[in-house]
Amino acid sequence: MCGIVGYTGHLQAAPILLDGLSKLEYRGYDSAGLAVRNGEKKTEIVKAKGRLKSLAEKTDNGHALVGTCGIGHTRWATHGEPSETNAHPHMSDDGNVVGVHNGIIENYQELKEKLVRKGYSFYSSTDTEVAFKLIDYYYKKYEHTPVDAINHALVRIRGSYALAMMFQDYPGEIYVARKDSPMILGVTDGDCFVASDVPAILKYTRTVYYIGNLEMARMADGAITFYNLDGDEIEKQPTQIEWDAEAAEKAGFEHFMIKEIHEQPKAVHDTINSVVKDGAIDLSEVGLTEEQIKNISQIYIVACGSAYHVGVACQYVFEDLAEIPVRVELASEFRYRKMVLDPNGLVIIVSQSGETADSLAALRLAKKKGVKTLGIVNVVGSSIAREADNVFYTLAGPEIAVATTKAYSTQLIAGYCLAVQFAKVRGSIDDTQYAHLIDEMQQLPDKIAKILEDKERIQWFAAKQANAGDIFFIGRGIDYAISLEGSLKMKEISYIHSEAYAAGELKHGTISLIEDGTLVIGVLTQSELYEKTVSNMVECKSRGAYLMGLTTYGNYNIEDTVSFTVYIPKTDEHFATSLAVIPLQLMGYYVSVAKGLDVDKPRNLAKSVTVE
Ligand code: F6R
Repeated sequence: MCGIVGYTGHLQAAPILLDGLSKLEYRGYDSAGLAVRNGEKKTEIVKAKGRLKSLAEKTDNGHALVGTCGIGHTRWATHGEPSETNAHPHMSDDGNVVGVHNGIIENYQELKEKLVRKGYSFYSSTDTEVAFKLIDYYYKKYEHTPVDAINHALVRIRGSYALAMMFQDYPGEIYVARKDSPMILGVTDGDCFVASDVPAILKYTRTVYYIGNLEMARMADGAITFYNLDGDEIEKQPTQIEWDAEAAEKAGFEHFMIKEIHEQPKAVHDTINSVVKDGAIDLSEVGLTEEQIKNISQIYIVACGSAYHVGVACQYVFEDLAEIPVRVELASEFRYRKMVLDPNGLVIIVSQSGETADSLAALRLAKKKGVKTLGIVNVVGSSIAREADNVFYTLAGPEIAVATTKAYSTQLIAGYCLAVQFAKVRGSIDDTQYAHLIDEMQQLPDKIAKILEDKERIQWFAAKQANAGDIFFIGRGIDYAISLEGSLKMKEISYIHSEAYAAGELKHGTISLIEDGTLVIGVLTQSELYEKTVSNMVECKSRGAYLMGLTTYGNYNIEDTVSFTVYIPKTDEHFATSLAVIPLQLMGYYVSVAKGLDVDKPRNLAKSVTVE
């Protein structure tokens, strides 16, 4: 996830680009860059690592770059670490094409090899450089017509992209193309704009065009022309934006948290597809060889908070599929325990930010003890990503809300992919099971989207719980792991005391807290444990509890026991966490909204806990 802005018109471009990028910094903030053209002169490019303010300083707030046509970018690294070289804009060898990109070019390696054979060389490790060199290749091959060149490239590129580019032979013109990554265009009084999101241009125009998948556009002389994949011109109607600027930054959602909840199908899809190629899981970019996988005799998953809950869920998946013993440890405990680590073990550190102090210390300790480490990390170039022996990057994009949702969901996927591949390599599953598990994982994004369609029912129920004093979440096995995350989501943003309990453990003390009307949410996605958890729920009900059930379509007899049920689609039960967590995220969110709390910034919390 990155931010793009482009402008061509009467005004100086650079200050407009910087201002637009500042509204998109939530989309990524590890580096930024500008490319500006002054008439027929060659394009000038300036890039800076770090937040946008470094680029603003380097360009004297844009005044150092003269020209009325330009493109800008703020980056969230996916391919290649954050650095000035990898920052956008990127250009073809002779500077003929200069462009910025948001998205992921899945087959960039294959395209790069083709271009190397054609004599191209590469200076960065990005997929973006490949895209623009491919366009340059077709531009030179097909009569120097930008639209034809872009068309030819688009049919070769697999993945998602929003591209904005300038051609040396076409001063004052910006070309754009899009597939599955957001991009809007705006026009007003002789000026044209393009951006990843509305707030970047809202100051200048409220008249915007939405460009469709596999469509292109040319912006020049105060007008925008749209083209389809055949290069034919197409008509588009503008839309008037009615939102205020702050709402627009949240893409029309009331809070970042609910926006990020809705981004989960895409985040999960992107993370799966970063390692699943031609029906098999490829861990070569993670850097684990088959030999190494075969030799692992113990896994330690170490993390904090929700990332720790990912570990608890994945423990069941690893043990059941790959038959490797797993221990899940809180990083803050692990770092001070005098643990004896198996020298053939693998320590997996799970962290969205890659900067959590305890998780980082745990990683350093494991390395010091000579045990191999692997980070499951969202922020490219973060400390954990840099220091771990191997890294599996989740592709959640920047997460703004303090309570994690989409990063948690992508961490689960990373854990599943490792477990399934370990199982395959170690021979504990056969080819049919392997294919089935991958297929089930690939269906998760659509199933998550389906659950989100039913959010109003959860909203209705959640609003009635705003005055609850205590909430209990219970489940067994993977359902216990789901309960842990559901409970944390609830308490951290609604300030209602809640606890997650392994359902069978309740009667060893905690059940004394159940009173008339106490809400108990039972999670029942594991068929082998279903009856047992129902019995534990009945024990609560007979002590006055008010019951909600969260289970899979088909388990309709749960309605004989509970007062409110949420159903989730069927999936392979190893992956049930990915679906069951969605209604629980929504529950926490809607209770917090009903209480009028600051959902995105709950009291006493910080997004990244870089102190002990
Ligand atoms: C809860 C939450 C936290 C984080 C924890 C670890 O919603 O977001 O519990 O999961 O602080 O943070 P990272 O993953 O950045 O190491």
